[in-house]
Amino acid sequence: MSNPQPSASQDSPASRSDARQWAQALLTSRRTTLPKRLQSPGPDAAQQAAILAAAAAAPDHGQLLPWRFIEVPQARRVELAQAFAAALIERDPEASADEQEQAREKAYRAPWLLLAVCRLRGGDPDIPGQERLLSAGCAIQNMLLLASAAGYGSGLTSGKALASQALRQLFGLHDDEDALCFLNFGTVSEVRRGKPRADSSAYFSRLGD
Ligand SMILES: Cc1cc2nc3c(=O)[nH]c(=O)nc-3n(C[C@H](O)[C@H](O)[C@H](O)COP(=O)(O)O)c2cc1C
Repeated sequence: MSNPQPSASQDSPASRSDARQWAQALLTSRRTTLPKRLQSPGPDAAQQAAILAAAAAAPDHGQLLPWRFIEVPQARRVELAQAFAAALIERDPEASADEQEQAREKAYRAPWLLLAVCRLRGGDPDIPGQERLLSAGCAIQNMLLLASAAGYGSGLTSGKALASQALRQLFGLHDDEDALCFLNFGTVSEVRRGKPRADSSAYFSRLGD
């Protein structure tokens, strides 16, 4: 499916101003919703396709397409649950049955669940891992924002299981790939007040000042 290529330069000043206000509202209002506060329904097939297409709008130096997303359908959550428990045992062979059950339970929360994977090594040596990682981050943010625009809650989750053999095997990761995080999407069951945003003075300076 090819994505539309809007031409901002043909828009009138009024519609540009509307677009800016709309984009600013979207960007600043996106918040993380943790998977335990996400319920069905998740995005439908058309919305999922649009969210995935948003990823392709990310900057990608050399068009390496260094990242990919793997959906975990409901029917395969049991395998993810097993991998989470196996990952826990990999790093703590003494983990209790309760701890294993808590690890398993995390596989079932979000209605739409994707694993983000990035090829950080190999291929074009002029495009190092950090650039590929940045591209993946941009792709992920595009997806979160489009889900937010469509009224869905979303959040990223990580954890030690991402680097486990159990998870790498389940998702068939190649040697040059790493699992970055899970993307969780669904309907927000409980709205939580977000953490305050940093002021730009905390992350901006001017050369020479
Ligand atoms: C790569 C990545 C992984 C994350 N993993 C987790 C996680 O495992 N658990 C969690 O509570 N939040 C996780 N977060 C979400 C952050 O906690 C969240 O973005 C932060 O609290 C700011 O909230 P906001 O997104 O509403 O601004 C992750 C964020 C990133 C970028």
